[in-house]
Formats: sequence, C-alpha cells, structure tokens
Amino acid sequence: MGNFDGQVVVVAGGGAGIGAAASTLIAARGGTVVVADVVRANAESVSAQIKSAGGKSVARELNVADQVGVAQFLNSVFQEFGRLDAIVNSAGIVGPTNTPLEKITAADIEKVLSINLLGAIWLTQAALPIMKTAKYGRIVHVASIAGKEGNPGMTPYVLSKSAMIGFVKAVAKEVATEGITINSIAPAVIKTPMNANTSEETLKYMISRIPMGRLGEADEVAEMIAFAASSACSFTTGFCFDTSGGRATY
Ligand SMILES: NC(=O)c1ccc[n+]([C@@H]2O[C@H](COP(=O)([O-])OP(=O)(O)OC[C@H]3O[C@@H](n4cnc5c(N)ncnc54)[C@H](O)[C@@H]3O)[C@@H](O)[C@H]2O)c1
Repeated sequence: MGNFDGQVVVVAGGGAGIGAAASTLIAARGGTVVVADVVRANAESVSAQIKSAGGKSVARELNVADQVGVAQFLNSVFQEFGRLDAIVNSAGIVGPTNTPLEKITAADIEKVLSINLLGAIWLTQAALPIMKTAKYGRIVHVASIAGKEGNPGMTPYVLSKSAMIGFVKAVAKEVATEGITINSIAPAVIKTPMNANTSEETLKYMISRIPMGRLGEADEVAEMIAFAASSACSFTTGFCFDTSGGRATY
C-alpha cells in the first residue's frame, strides 16, 4: 500500500536523472507512472525497470516545448486511464555554462526558455482543465537553486528557472480554491547526466556554495517531489521547496 495507490502520475523528463528517480519512487508507492521524455528509448527503459520491480508504468515520447503535442499527450493520458492526478515536470536542459552574458545568443535564450519555461507553461495549461473538472490535482515543476540565487555564466538557465518559480506562484493563486496545488522544487547541484558536460569550474563553484559540501542525489530530490505530488501536500501551494544541502535556508 502506498500513498499513490490508484493514482495516475505523469513524469515529464522521466527518462533520466531526477525524473527517473521520481518515476521510480512514485511507482514504488503505488502510482501508475506515465514516463514521458523526448528520448523515447530512455522513457521505455525507466518504465521497463519499474515494471520489472512490480510497478505500473507506460512510456511515452513527449517534447514539452511543443504546445499542441503536450495538450494532445495529456488528453490522451486522461482518455486512456480516466484520470490524471499529478504531473511532475523534470524536463530541462542546462544551456550554456561558464559563458558571459556578452557571448549569449538569442538562439541560446530561445532554446532554453522553450523547454525549461514554456514546457512548464504548456504542461500546466493542458493539465488544469482536467484537474479542475476532477477538483483535484498536483503539479510539481523542477526549478533550481539557480533560479533563486543566480549562478554566474549560465544566464539563460537562471532566467528560465526564476521565471518558472514566479509562474508557479501566480498560477497557484489562480487555482487555490480548485483542489489543485502547484509547487516548484529548487535543487542545488545533483549527480545526474545533466551535469556530464557542465564545466569543472561551474561545478566547483556550485559545490563550494553548498554547506553540506557535496552533490545531492536524485533520490533525495525525488523524496521532496513525491511529497509535493501527493495528496498529503494539501495546504502548500505556490511554494518553492528546497533541496540544496543547506545552500538556501529561505
Ligand atoms: N542535476 C542538477 O544539478 C539540477 C539542479 C537543479 C535543477 N535541476 C533541474 O532538474 C530537472 C531534471 O534534471 P536532471 O539533472 O535530472 O537532468 P537530466 O538531463 O538527467 O534529465 C532531464 C530529462 O529531461 C529530458 N528532456 C530534455 N528536453 C526535453 C523536452 N523538450 N521534452 C521532454 N523531455 C526533455 C531529457 O531527455 C532527460 O531525460 C531539470 O529541469 C533541471 O534543470 C537539475
């Protein structure tokens, strides 16, 4: 018995890192997890692992930057399963690191925003009508400590995440009486494939800012996500939960 028994949870960006850990944890707690990722093979692999561990899951290909595709995807999930209890959005890209603002191009900004920010908006927009009808829903977007504090040399990423945090606060107030909560999560640097190409200098800077003096684990972030995506998160909305090893205490 788990606190997601009978629920259907979509995890966008579920094919790797934090999204894969959240998919696995939510499935272990009884949820049927729709693992959605732009890399279909990775979504399938996470879903297969969940099923081999006795959990319930399907894999779907999804590009969160595609507004029409996102709406079709969520409607098809609702048609297939008859419910949509929670959405976890862990899809994201890091964009340029260790790059001064003068070297950032319009294409850099557009690419990062289209996935990290617009993806969050399209998912939320498409989920709300379904959740409003059900008078229940949980939406969790993975932001970043970078969006709270600003990491130098990665301005497109920082602006996408600070905008995401603000977006969540605004929508939370719009739907506060509808049984829907929407929150974000602000991890500090976490050991995932996303950091494979992050420059040594940027990584060192980020770890040096963490009082615990280490990288976080995807499983540690997944625990916070699982709470925010569960029915237990009933009186917290518009909040940005911290998973930063003490870097942020506000
Ligand atoms: N790893 C960290 O240090 C860290 C810290 C703070 C915040 N975050 C945020 O956490 C989230 C997950 O990061 P991660 O470290 O697990 O990264 P990751 O690269 O391991 O996983 C991200 C997943 O998102 C998918 N994805 C990328 N673009 C997509 C798109 N357009 N549509 C659908 N899926 C897409 C990728 O294929 C991948 O499976 C991201 O939003 C990231 O910004 C990560």
